[in-house]
Amino acid sequence: MDAAQRVAEAMAAWPRSGFLPRRERRHAGRDGPVPIGHGQTNSQPRTVAAMLELLDVRPGDRVLDVGAGSAWTTALLAHLTGPDGVVVGVERIPEIAAVGAASLERTGMPWAHVALATPGVLGSPSHGPFDRVLVSADAQTLSRELVDQLRPGGVMVIPVRGWMHRVVRDPGFDRDGVATGDAQVEMHGAYRFVPLIED
Ligand SMILES: C[S@@+](CC[C@H](N)C(=O)[O-])C[C@H]1O[C@@H](n2cnc3c(N)ncnc32)[C@H](O)[C@@H]1O
Repeated sequence: MDAAQRVAEAMAAWPRSGFLPRRERRHAGRDGPVPIGHGQTNSQPRTVAAMLELLDVRPGDRVLDVGAGSAWTTALLAHLTGPDGVVVGVERIPEIAAVGAASLERTGMPWAHVALATPGVLGSPSHGPFDRVLVSADAQTLSRELVDQLRPGGVMVIPVRGWMHRVVRDPGFDRDGVATGDAQVEMHGAYRFVPLIED
């Protein structure tokens, strides 16, 4: 199965409606963002599919989901890693994180969880390094802090100033065996997202 088929299978297994506020569920079939409260959204399905295909998650991967929101992406990632993987979702708005965590718990995939983001910390360095990092909010810059949470050879998909970036951390090491932290960056089209809060 290629990445697109695996993503389609995950989306069929975990329909978006199970992660939307009850009053918004009638919009689940619409290919657009749907409000989840506090000015935030559950992302457009076509965009989520494109990002997950670029991310190319493998069974057993350790994955970080920045901007977990409704936790739909966290559940899709957990489906893609399977039970040998680990998925850490981080969300900065406490009320959204609590609802997302409850929706995720109902999926019965205990290798995934949603945690409240620590103020002033991007991602979850204490749970890293990660094979894959998904960022579902628009960054102002390609943050060194997030690249540093990737394993050498790891992949991050992140919108930066409206452009989707696919970042592959170089598998390079210095003479002491420490990863050098350089990265290859490709751009994959224009998208609109709520902002990634970076302070
Ligand atoms: C497009 S929305 C949610 C998309 C989500 N993946 C889903 O499936 O519903 C992006 C989320 O990123 C969150 N966010 C913004 N900056 C963040 C940060 N620095 N750390 C964690 N979450 C952040 C917002 O609160 C918002 O809930």
